[in-house]
Amino acid sequence: MEILASIIGAVTRREGRKFLDLNPDFDERVVDAPGDTDDGQTLLYVHIPFCRTLCPFCCFNRYLFKEDETRQYFRHLKKELDMYIGRGFRFSDIYFGGGTPTILMDELTDFIAYLRRNFDVRRISLETTAREINPPNIKLLKAAGVNRLSIGVQSFDDATLKTMGRTFCSGEELKEKLRLAQGEFETLNIDFVFNFPGQSIEKFAEDVAIFKNMGIDQATFYPLMASPHKKNALERKFNTVDTAREKKFYDIILRELFEDGYKASTAWCFSRGEKMIDEYIVDFDDYIGIGAGSVSIFRGNFLINTFSLAKYGQLIDSDRLPVVGWRRLSDREYRRYYLLTKLTGMEIDPQKFQRRFHADIHDKLRLELTFLRLFGLVRGKDNFEVTRKGVHKDNFEVTRRGMYPVSVMMREFFAALNGLREDYIEKQI
Ligand SMILES: C[S@@+](CC[C@H](N)C(=O)[O-])C[C@H]1O[C@@H](n2cnc3c(N)ncnc32)[C@H](O)[C@@H]1O
Ligand code: SF4
Repeated sequence: MEILASIIGAVTRREGRKFLDLNPDFDERVVDAPGDTDDGQTLLYVHIPFCRTLCPFCCFNRYLFKEDETRQYFRHLKKELDMYIGRGFRFSDIYFGGGTPTILMDELTDFIAYLRRNFDVRRISLETTAREINPPNIKLLKAAGVNRLSIGVQSFDDATLKTMGRTFCSGEELKEKLRLAQGEFETLNIDFVFNFPGQSIEKFAEDVAIFKNMGIDQATFYPLMASPHKKNALERKFNTVDTAREKKFYDIILRELFEDGYKASTAWCFSRGEKMIDEYIVDFDDYIGIGAGSVSIFRGNFLINTFSLAKYGQLIDSDRLPVVGWRRLSDREYRRYYLLTKLTGMEIDPQKFQRRFHADIHDKLRLELTFLRLFGLVRGKDNFEVTRKGVHKDNFEVTRRGMYPVSVMMREFFAALNGLREDYIEKQI
């Protein structure tokens, strides 16, 4: 299985690199108001790239927090949002990612109020770090109507936290922070990273056990993804990742959580209980990202915003969308990207594919589906049915055997994206 996963991973990495071969000249008509985007099908992602300290392993666009710069940034964000509103976009699902979206609570709540004045907001997801969790912030987030709160924990083990450069909360303090947030939101998710250099399998198993014992609704487990271009001494140990041990960590997640009644809502996200709010790239085929370094997928186009704060401000001030890289995906690339996101979400619905691509999935992804079924990575669901014409009418689901290869596919896709991110950050594109 590990060899198969490596092969699938290598193919995904190669495809991912092609996918990310971007054109700097963006044709703004790509996001011209189609008028029918107010159907709740396009999510708005808002990136807040500021953190109080910078974790050496982190592969996202983030900068050290400075208050003036952050306030200015929020002003630019509103202007960028206005440009999309002017184009006819209406959003009802919003995701705040970072960085640390809660870094200036007055700006955040003001921005959310602005969203509510403009849209009929249905759901807000927001990520933050545990150090930001305190009773006043929880109260403000609830009052602002945040439905899903995701808190970066990474590990409860003090030694692992030290290697991660996350010494702002000890393992015990992290638990206290989580207890404050428990039961306060529709969904509470916590993030872990596994396969850290020096992290033992036993310590990781303890992290999973603590998560279970605390009775938290949902956890997302990210395999450590490499940051190949980082140059700083502390960061350099994350230039490459030793993937040889990764499956052992992943097996622990599956064993511990499946036995205890958790369901995989993605290959990385496990929840217990009723309806949970999960990954937006799985649930939303289209999303528009605003903010420095955010990414959009819109109607078969991949867009990336500038990573530079200065350039972001300049472009917005000159009334231009801050997109610096764009690719219109070929039909094949788009279908494969679609397949990857649905595999990550554990299920492929041929009818949804039909609605999106106006084509039969069995014709368009014949090779891929045959391969996945042949190796037992996906199977038809219970109500699976083969019609007389040999068409599978019902959904495919990822099997337990298929979960690790799917996780590797996702890791490789994100690794390709990280390579691009770092390149853009380094060159301040
Ligand atoms: C962008 S962060 C935002 C959360 C928050 N800033 C925090 O760190 O607690 C979202 C999650 O990405 C994950 N992450 C960051 N860098 C990663 C990397 N190099 N490999 C795998 N996961 C990573 C971490 O689990 C983190 O909680
Ligand atoms: S992991 Fe979170 S807190 Fe750390 S630098 Fe990245 S975004 Fe900031």
